[in-house]
Amino acid sequence: MEHIVIAGKRGLRGEVNINGAKNAAVAIIPAAVASASVCVIDNLPHIEDIVSLVDAMTKLGCKCRFINRNTLEIDSTGVTSVTADFDSIKKLRASYYLVGALLGRFGEAQVLLPGGCNFGTRPIDQHMKGFEALGAAVAIDHGMIKAKAAKLTGAHIYLDVASVGATINIMIASVYAEGTTVIENAAKEPHVVDCANFLNILGARVKGAGTDTIRIKGVTELHGGEYTIIPDQIECGTFMLTAAATAGEITVRNIIPKHMDSVSAKLSEMGCKLTEGSDFITVRGSDSLRAVNVKTMAYPGFPTDLQPQMTTLLCSANGTSIITETVFDNRYQYITELRRLGCQVTVDGRIAVIEGHNRLTGASVTATDLRAGAALVIGGLCAEGVTDIGNVKYIDRGYERIELNMQRLGADIKRVSE
Ligand code: UD1
Repeated sequence: MEHIVIAGKRGLRGEVNINGAKNAAVAIIPAAVASASVCVIDNLPHIEDIVSLVDAMTKLGCKCRFINRNTLEIDSTGVTSVTADFDSIKKLRASYYLVGALLGRFGEAQVLLPGGCNFGTRPIDQHMKGFEALGAAVAIDHGMIKAKAAKLTGAHIYLDVASVGATINIMIASVYAEGTTVIENAAKEPHVVDCANFLNILGARVKGAGTDTIRIKGVTELHGGEYTIIPDQIECGTFMLTAAATAGEITVRNIIPKHMDSVSAKLSEMGCKLTEGSDFITVRGSDSLRAVNVKTMAYPGFPTDLQPQMTTLLCSANGTSIITETVFDNRYQYITELRRLGCQVTVDGRIAVIEGHNRLTGASVTATDLRAGAALVIGGLCAEGVTDIGNVKYIDRGYERIELNMQRLGADIKRVSE
């Protein structure tokens, strides 16, 4: 078992190149199954979720080859199975995109129910409703999602919640559906747009991604293509919040600043100085940041995936901050771990109240999920003394060796094996 050990140090300084977006990559890789051809996907992050997905794709009959560390060639011509029941995808949330891709191409899919981080109940009813509207019979049976259709036909689908997963999944499945599919109340996250752009490169006809209404005109064939994944909004935000929390100065490069607007706005409100260019942002923190209130929302609101890192930052702000988590019903499980570092946070349902200006001290803590792990890294950097973080496997699911980038910024952080 691996641990991350941090000797707290303020004032991280330097530049970080942000990797390709995890949540775009885990949608685009399964979407390649829909094409029955060769796709080359570039700017992939080298993280555990990608390794697990590539394993699943290979077992389905795709030929997957890493051309280099961040570029993957997928030849899905010879897919031989519509059943994905592999151990490798048990911990993945994004395994559900294989349902959309296999159902769209073969009219049938059987995929293990998704895993992923535990933020309370994470239903997939909107995915199923969408597939059913396209004409599929969908059931959950023995822990698997089973979907089957003699033919998929375009439909008008109104999502009850603007779910990222349901929007992308229905979009992928409906690429071959006869006629036009309309998804209303669609999610607008950057990775929804990225997946739509990828499908369009292959010959799909998807319009409106990034707005509330997405229209997909069915086609009879997708060809292969090359695609470069967008930068990771959440990795970028993690380093921006690290700059603020450690009162340092960090430039995040290879990013799309527009995707960061909600984060930049909060950091400015707290008193950080930000400089923005076409593909970079520099964040300069200070020792006297103001407390703020934050409400997580679907894009373009403040991302729920940065909520734990923001909570940690607010522990060192002057005054009391309130975070309201509106996306998930149980995303504060990590607070118990944060308290071990001396953070004063109380939670009531979806609301966390953070008493700022705490003196954090190092402790032995455990990552309870991916972004909670990132929050503990930030906490450890801010704390006096040594912090030891267990369950690093969660952090590795979404960050490519987070400790190496932190080291380049001057952090005293290392990975150790037990
Ligand atoms: C994706 C991201 C995750 C992020 C989340 C919100 C991936 C692989 N994961 O997760 O990192 O935190 O978006 O930005 O991209 N819901 C339903 N029924 C459904 C689907 C969702 O009620 O069928 C609810 C969920 O319980 C949640 C809300 O909708 O309250 C948003 O979930 P959703 O956008 O679907 O999140 P994921 O796709 O699971």
